[in-house]
Amino acid sequence: MQKTKAITRRVIYFTRDPAPGLLASFREREWDVEVVGSVREVRQFAQGGSLAGGLVDLSSVFEPGEAAALETCLAMPNIGWVAMAAATHLDDAIPRRLVRDYCFDYVTLPAANERIVDTVGHACGMISLGEPACLDTSTAEGQMIGTCDAMYALFRAVRKVATTNAPVFISGESGTGKELTAAAIHARSPRRDAPFVAINCGAIPAQLLQSELFGYERGAFTGANQRRVGRVEAANGGTLFLDEIGDLPFESQASLLRFLQESTISRLGGDGSIDVDVRIISATHVDMEAAIEDGRFRADLYHRLCVLRIDEPPLRARGKDIELLALYTLERYRTDASRRLYGFAPDAIAAMHRYDWPGNVRELINRVRRAIVMSETRTITAEDLELSSYVTAVPITLARARETAERQAIELALLRHRGRPGDAARELSISRTTLYRLLTSHGMRYGDEPDAAE
Ligand SMILES: Nc1ncnc2c1ncn2[C@@H]1O[C@H](COP(=O)(O)OP(=O)(O)OP(=O)(O)O)[C@@H](O)[C@H]1O
Ligand SMILES: [Mg+2]
Repeated sequence: MQKTKAITRRVIYFTRDPAPGLLASFREREWDVEVVGSVREVRQFAQGGSLAGGLVDLSSVFEPGEAAALETCLAMPNIGWVAMAAATHLDDAIPRRLVRDYCFDYVTLPAANERIVDTVGHACGMISLGEPACLDTSTAEGQMIGTCDAMYALFRAVRKVATTNAPVFISGESGTGKELTAAAIHARSPRRDAPFVAINCGAIPAQLLQSELFGYERGAFTGANQRRVGRVEAANGGTLFLDEIGDLPFESQASLLRFLQESTISRLGGDGSIDVDVRIISATHVDMEAAIEDGRFRADLYHRLCVLRIDEPPLRARGKDIELLALYTLERYRTDASRRLYGFAPDAIAAMHRYDWPGNVRELINRVRRAIVMSETRTITAEDLELSSYVTAVPITLARARETAERQAIELALLRHRGRPGDAARELSISRTTLYRLLTSHGMRYGDEPDAAE
């Protein structure tokens, strides 16, 4: 369920000439009104952080020499502003721009007090809806993007496991983001300032694994000209990420198990044991139950590694996140294109949803990057993504094409401006109010991030 922040009936009335009748109307409707007369007071109020409606009386507070200070007040993210001004004031370019960029609405004076109160109520309601979550960085976990239920569950799991020291086992298809998840757990953990050391267990031959993991002393074997610290010791105090653990050669599994049981290592050729304090995260795309059954993986080692388990959702199960990740990739690599790209054609979006994505997020990034370079039109088509065979035969109406283009333009503008509606609206040459209306009509309004404690 999407949530909205609690709506307060609180308004900050920024004026140097408060209208008694208007104050009375607010109070009659049980609004808590705070009258302020300076930019400094507005800032103090906004720094309290709670959400409120705002009413700025441009006729009394706007001075051309103080426009910049006024702009910083109007940009405060927790106040939903409504401007009131005489029509002549809005002839001037600066107040007009301030209203267009920062206010949910404006009222031209003279106006009925009731109407002003209603308009502020609307702005206050809008601000309480919050920013669209898909573009709000608080929904991303580290560099992980996602707004679907499965990704929210993953982010919650990351936060929970990060606070403990227990081993975490991450399971998921290739390219789903297992390494990103491991890095996010480390970054959220109390060990974040110590090293995060990753080792690809499948890539190191069994005979070298011992020295790679535990290091060696000088003279331990021919060619060991100096002491070398192993990966486990290098991770001391931090996190050791055992990637592709399912591919760890069977003959290496016993020594890893010993280390996990004793939390000590001995360098090859060394005579003492060294205590190490590392947090273990492991990951694989291998079906471990099957590997254990086939005798390829030791059950005792698996149970040591898999105290807490995280399952990475495949991309095909992430719904609209597919589009979001595609847009994110376009945004990131758009300068690779020879021309300005506006987004994805409707046939590309349809194909992305029909395709199975065996290579998951990595495959999507690669396909989009290639399409950015190869595209010969202003939008990326299914053909550019090499997904033509996934396009439906259903004809696309012009209205639908327009709608898709509009939604993408908004998503891209918000991505570019990190979710700041004022800046995105300016780029799109629309008012902030229009932007909010469009967000609602496209169903792009999301609530707060889900409760991390759930
Ligand atoms: N949720 C996400 N948001 C943004 N980028 C992502 C996300 N998930 C994965 N990626 C990107 O996809 C690519 C693959 O991610 P990663 O290497 O973490 O996957 P993996 O599961 O470890 O893959 P493999 O099984 O092939 O090792 C990386 O470029 C990563 O940055
Ligand atoms: Mg990986």
